[in-house]
Amino acid sequence: MADVVLSIENATKVYGSGPAATEALKDVTLQVERGEWIAIMGPSGHGKSTLLQLMGGLDRPTKGNIYLDKSDITRLSQGDLARLRGHKIGFVFQFFNLLPHLTALENVEMALWLGGMDKHLSRSRGLHLLDQVGLAKKAGNFPNALSGGQQQRVAIARALANDPDVLLMDEPTGNLDSAAEADLLERLSMLHEGGKTLVIVTHNPAVADRAQRRVRVRDGRIVGETNNA
Ligand SMILES: Nc1ncnc2c1ncn2[C@@H]1O[C@H](COP(=O)(O)OP(=O)(O)O)[C@@H](O)[C@H]1O
Ligand SMILES: [Mg+2]
Repeated sequence: MADVVLSIENATKVYGSGPAATEALKDVTLQVERGEWIAIMGPSGHGKSTLLQLMGGLDRPTKGNIYLDKSDITRLSQGDLARLRGHKIGFVFQFFNLLPHLTALENVEMALWLGGMDKHLSRSRGLHLLDQVGLAKKAGNFPNALSGGQQQRVAIARALANDPDVLLMDEPTGNLDSAAEADLLERLSMLHEGGKTLVIVTHNPAVADRAQRRVRVRDGRIVGETNNA
């Protein structure tokens, strides 16, 4: 039997209501196996980010169910969902979403504090995480004193802070130069080899080629899937 870590069952997402309503996802079903690397592809505005946000428990479907390790996260309270998400899911946003008034280290530590770690432990763990992404020397920098690639690495360190099983990333190469992109690909491959489950929304063929499955989204639906050999 496949070990399914994340299962989206008949999920529909409607934003807004009345004449302004947008049906961003329409009855989407997708299962993610533990350790898999999935690329989600499709044109802009067709529901990819919405799907990723539902998978990460950042938003709730209008209809349907989302199971994370067999528990239905659509039934959890906000507080229980936040706790579960905090240690099972790491999310890297398209524009990284670092807190601008916190240093790189504090941005990573914030995730550790939310995970329940106290402050004297979070400092060394945060530095270790930054060191793993090659940024220990920039620990004291604020986000605006970091390049796009460096900000992304802080965001990855933050997402990995509580050692989640699943890492979700939204268009990770959109704002990177080619050196930063190559570095990211290397990092993703290492995470995959280390057993992390990766779900990555991407337009980038180099990223999609490394994934085991490519899922195509169009008009809020999954319209096809290819497997890499
Ligand atoms: N918070 C929101 N409120 C209202 N509409 C939204 C919101 N987020 C996304 N949408 C709409 O949902 C559709 C899908 O958006 P999105 O999931 O961001 O697509 P993609 O990531 O593929 O570009 C688009 O029509 C978008 O305008
Ligand atoms: Mg998007």
